[in-house]
Amino acid sequence: MTDQQQDDKLWGGRFTEATDAFVEAFTASVDFDRRLYRHDIEGSRAHARMLAKVGVLTEAECAAILEGLDEVLHDIERGDFAWSVSLEDVHMNIEARLTDRIGVAGKKLHTGRSRNDQVATDIRLYLRDEIDFLLGEIRRAQHALLDLAEREADTILPGFTHLQVAMPVTFGHHMLAWFEMLDRDFDRLADCRKRVNVMPLGAAALAGTTYPIDRDYTADLLGFARPANNSLDAVSDRDFAIEFCAAGALIMTHLSRFAEELVLWASAQFDFVDLPDRFCTGSSIMPQKKNPDVPELLRGKSGRTNGNLISLLTLMKGQPLAYNKDNQEDKEPLFDTVDTLRGSLRAFADMVPHLKVKAERMRAAARQGYSTATDLADYLVRKGVAFRDAHEIVGKSVRYGIEQGRDLADLALDELRQFSDAIEDDVFEVLTLEGSVAARNHLGGTAPEQVRKQVQGARGRLG
Ligand code: ARG
Repeated sequence: MTDQQQDDKLWGGRFTEATDAFVEAFTASVDFDRRLYRHDIEGSRAHARMLAKVGVLTEAECAAILEGLDEVLHDIERGDFAWSVSLEDVHMNIEARLTDRIGVAGKKLHTGRSRNDQVATDIRLYLRDEIDFLLGEIRRAQHALLDLAEREADTILPGFTHLQVAMPVTFGHHMLAWFEMLDRDFDRLADCRKRVNVMPLGAAALAGTTYPIDRDYTADLLGFARPANNSLDAVSDRDFAIEFCAAGALIMTHLSRFAEELVLWASAQFDFVDLPDRFCTGSSIMPQKKNPDVPELLRGKSGRTNGNLISLLTLMKGQPLAYNKDNQEDKEPLFDTVDTLRGSLRAFADMVPHLKVKAERMRAAARQGYSTATDLADYLVRKGVAFRDAHEIVGKSVRYGIEQGRDLADLALDELRQFSDAIEDDVFEVLTLEGSVAARNHLGGTAPEQVRKQVQGARGRLG
């Protein structure tokens, strides 16, 4: 590095030696934090307007800064901006370009501010926008699930516990279980947004500033709910990013569960659904293959978001107040979680409406697994048999069915009556799959009528 380049540094005044070239690259963040440029400019605009309002900048200086920042924004957006590693980060790159463009007024923008409160503000502005987008994507996925639940309210598949056939359930009910998980995810993100939406600006480096700043005014301009109460906390708090990554990891955990079911269901062994061709790929060697790549990736990508959460928790653990350069490491995990959520929610919401449900296959699977055995026990209880005795009777009936290779509904009345004479010819109503699901007709139950009610209720709530 030449002395001339050293002179370019915005903090070069107290240094006598140029930064080591490797150290310069090692400490720079511009390669990744440039993604914050719009929010950095937005924050700077508000800061300049506040400084003019309190008389620290003249109106003319403020106007020059605002115009200059617009031009810089424009330069960046049309690709006419050479990001420089020697200017370290997004903040100093933009400020240097502003000063190039408008001269001395540009050098006044940083009055009463530090990169410490600036970067904390930028990330919050950025994350607030991303949360708003992601909330919309979650809702889109939820609507897709509601539509599918309604369409398949009467479709019956085996419900599983321990991945063993347990009881018949409706496919609509199953989709509504996924819906509920996303509903909690939505609430978690919306709640996290409240803590994102607090403004660090004005904290300056760590202790506040000697200028007569008006933080409420800046907060208003930026749409923040309020300025942060404590300057030390404001520059060093990254809880909001951790919370976001935790909420994001849970979203991906849910998507990975849905994805795993889709992978299973799309296999020849289950054959419950057909995934749209355009969400699958083939094999370069096995011509017959149609691989469920999108669900597999949804499942696999949860690894990243878990990792990002742990990275941020570890980054913050043990950090003394206030700002530390460690915090520059907050961005890549955060950005990666944002990108992963964007891609994954999009893929999921786009795929769900095109799932082809193979009702006949599901039905056949539900009929094979003695899934109405509990219904037979409940039937016996209604006829006055004690539940434990009923359990025993049904167990014997199932064993007989297995020996015969037939389901309960396929046994003749006489065969069933070997095990209990409480069984009469009305038994076949409860042994059918339709009878079984329709009987679970209460809030939260699997009956088609309940599924339709839930869909209507959820649509009303989501708007
Ligand atoms: N690039 C830095 C970051 O992302 C900006 C703040 C730097 N502050 C400082 N005092 N070096 O955290």
